[in-house]
Amino acid sequence: MIDTHCHLNFKAFKDDADEVIKRAHDAGVTRIINVGSQWDTSARGVSMAEEREGLYAAIALHPIHLYEQEVDEEETHFTTRAEVFDYDKYKKLALESKKVVAIGECGLDYYHFPKGENIEEVKKKQADSFQQHIDLATELNLPLIIHCREAYDDLFQILNEAVKAGKLPGRGVNHCFLGTREQAKKFLDLGFYLSFTGIITFKNASPELLEVVKETPLDKIMVETDAPYLAPHPYRGKRNEPAYVVEVANKIAELKEVDFKIVLDMTTKNAEYLFTI
Ligand code: NI
Repeated sequence: MIDTHCHLNFKAFKDDADEVIKRAHDAGVTRIINVGSQWDTSARGVSMAEEREGLYAAIALHPIHLYEQEVDEEETHFTTRAEVFDYDKYKKLALESKKVVAIGECGLDYYHFPKGENIEEVKKKQADSFQQHIDLATELNLPLIIHCREAYDDLFQILNEAVKAGKLPGRGVNHCFLGTREQAKKFLDLGFYLSFTGIITFKNASPELLEVVKETPLDKIMVETDAPYLAPHPYRGKRNEPAYVVEVANKIAELKEVDFKIVLDMTTKNAEYLFTI
């Protein structure tokens, strides 16, 4: 299996990344894509991938890192550092390693607005940064890993224009999809994949989200952990890790009423195709 989105490059794994990778291998998760959220974690993801077989990297500046702000959620609390997306610096990083398989995670986040900032300006800044990531993915012919939170309308507008202009030949994936059926359809119509996390295993998972899993064709689905966040049931509340991606695939098999093996084969093939790995 492939965990298509996790963050072993984050502090949460600084002491035991290799043990975590070993546990993933033992669980059959032999390939892992480490996703960056700013310069430090992107660069660290690349060096980790260079040192280890089966590890790949995606690099980008996440929209919440455009401003310094406190982020407080169920399983995490941290202060983000402000960064401006430096196109040439990220491009150079991508070209330095064959293990860089995507640009991401990037996109729009209207859930975490920095306090005291003008909302329209924040949106504009996020859109500009996202646009640059689209251009970089286009120039390097890499797929995009999209983060979108409560910003689907604006995101689709940007993506539609990009695709119409011939950009993003490699398309991409909406990671940790949490949208509606209609939004799911829009991604699929644009040629994007949907990827699901442990959220679909939660006892209080939204019925509409589970419907989306059921309705999305298996050849458009990928699985991920988003570790260290979003540990699936029965590990909810603990630090997540790539080995647990098996729980996500299990839930998809249950919802779609197909064999686990089919979900495993299809989601692996999809990731191999999208990320050329
Ligand atoms: Ni993530």
